[in-house]
Amino acid sequence: MIKSSIFMIVLAMIIYGYFTFIYGRLEYEGSERLDGKTVIITGANTGIGKEAAIDLARRGARVICACRSKSRGEAAIEDIKKTSGSNNVVLMMLDLGSLKSVRQFAKDIYAKEERLDVLINNAGLVGPVYRDTTKDGFERMIGVNHLGHFLLTDLLLDLLKKSQPSRIVVVSSGSHTMVPGMNFDDLMSEKSYSVLTTYAYSKLANVLFSFEMSRRLKGTSVTINSLHPGVVMTEVFRYFEDYLQLPSFINKALRWMLSAVLRDARQGAQTVICLAVDKSLQSVSGQFFEECEIYETSEAATNETEAKMLWDISQKLVNLSP
Ligand SMILES: NC(=O)c1ccc[n+]([C@@H]2O[C@H](COP(=O)([O-])OP(=O)(O)OC[C@H]3O[C@@H](n4cnc5c(N)ncnc54)[C@H](OP(=O)(O)O)[C@@H]3O)[C@@H](O)[C@H]2O)c1
Ligand SMILES: *[C@@H]1O[C@H](CO)[C@@H](O)[C@H](O)[C@H]1NC(C)=O
Repeated sequence: MIKSSIFMIVLAMIIYGYFTFIYGRLEYEGSERLDGKTVIITGANTGIGKEAAIDLARRGARVICACRSKSRGEAAIEDIKKTSGSNNVVLMMLDLGSLKSVRQFAKDIYAKEERLDVLINNAGLVGPVYRDTTKDGFERMIGVNHLGHFLLTDLLLDLLKKSQPSRIVVVSSGSHTMVPGMNFDDLMSEKSYSVLTTYAYSKLANVLFSFEMSRRLKGTSVTINSLHPGVVMTEVFRYFEDYLQLPSFINKALRWMLSAVLRDARQGAQTVICLAVDKSLQSVSGQFFEECEIYETSEAATNETEAKMLWDISQKLVNLSP
């Protein structure tokens, strides 16, 4: 009895140690300034996006927070301004689950902004438990995580080119390696939907997109890289409680344990920040990053044929002329 409980405690400590070792402390230490530069961050009202916004505002950038909720967005930019000490933080409305909203957002940017130095495609969701669709009828995760950003990036490309050297940072996830390739025969997960698998497809799409885009950007000084931020305690877990359907005290305990072992949002933002500002990455493009370093990824994620196929399909789905 005692033996087994000690065993459990030790095991718990090992697991804890493992997570803090792998996902724990991470700090980008570069002191680059971004005065006079403009950054767009999608989904900047909470989690990784909000922490990246605070850091980049501190470095002097004009930070445009692209959010879908006015009230959540307004509350967040107050916080970002206060914490960073910068007033150059603005909220603009963007719902990545609506192509119309993406087009309107891009129009607003061209009307109001002179330049764009860094675009951070960060917004994303893991859920909901039951399949749901965007305004345009896409499965929600492929729609928001991939297609919305696909259109957004394409529409903002002229401004990025005008402002080069400039960068695109794509927040993907290590979970893209969970699937052996894109589900081209069921891209909208109509035949089969499971939260984590469909999420993995959407995150594989992020990596394939950034590789293909980097090939198309050859010869320019616009770079694009994707990344895994670590396993981070954010609102990304907001659907998990519905999913697990456990009593609320267990949910509370799980939440507490997760916050104890997982990386916090500020640490989760470090690889994003490093890709956005690190001088030594000025001409690095078409790479996948973890822990602020280039990582080799799966064969599926580096398959040029599939990257090109996904590009062509995405272009049709968002009604973009080639
Ligand atoms: N946390 C992790 O462990 C982890 C691991 C790997 C990858 N990632 C990736 O990291 C990125 C940031 O996630 P996070 O952990 O910071 O999650 P989070 O705290 O849930 O933040 C996600 C952000 O995306 C926004 N968003 C969701 N749907 C949107 C839509 N239709 N239009 C515009 N914005 C929308 C959310 O806005 P609302 O608040 O209005 O919903 C929120 O601002 C995601 O791409 C995620 O896939 C996270
Ligand atoms: C790349 O994808 C194509 C199309 O799905 C497939 O035929 C090919 O075998 C893949 N190549 C590699 C190296 O995996």
